[in-house]
Amino acid sequence: MSRLDSFIRRLEAQRRMLDWAAAAIAGRDGLVLELGLGNGRTYDHLRERLPGRAIHVFERDVSPNPDSMPPADRLVEGDMAQTLPAFVARHGRCAALIHVDVTTGVPERDRILFAWLPQHVVALAAPAALVVSGWAIEHPGLEALALPEGVPEGRYFAYRRRG
Ligand SMILES: C[S@@+](CC[C@H](N)C(=O)[O-])C[C@H]1O[C@@H](n2cnc3c(N)ncnc32)[C@H](O)[C@@H]1O
Repeated sequence: MSRLDSFIRRLEAQRRMLDWAAAAIAGRDGLVLELGLGNGRTYDHLRERLPGRAIHVFERDVSPNPDSMPPADRLVEGDMAQTLPAFVARHGRCAALIHVDVTTGVPERDRILFAWLPQHVVALAAPAALVVSGWAIEHPGLEALALPEGVPEGRYFAYRRRG
């Protein structure tokens, strides 16, 4: 499979995952956390699927498409290694959904580069919160979930926060 095919499939899987997760948290309280604003595509998708929901976005280098700039009070600028624990200290286990989209595009590299991240995700996730991620997150606080139909194994990952 060419890298273009692989990229397209990843985006299709991402859209299915976000649609599935947005539907799954309907009626549940809690913030939505988008880890990695980038161009703002997935943030834009989430805010369209979850109108009226508080979506907080974390990013180090803020330069999205101008149409996808989060409001200033929902944008957490800086290195997540620092901003996530600070957010935990302020809000605790506040999130109904966390989308982890910090990636280098190479899952094996991500697991090493972002080894500090799962503990913060777990600390932010409310009981039974959903975590969806482009790379596999291993943490005893997270239970792996079956993927929605149409998302091939290993393309995306879904977890429920235990306890
Ligand atoms: C794959 S992009 C996000 C794509 C985005 N969700 C979209 O749909 O356009 C990953 C983003 O994570 C950000 N990022 C990576 N490591 C970070 C860190 N330690 N703290 C904050 N942001 C980080 C990068 O700057 C990059 O913009």
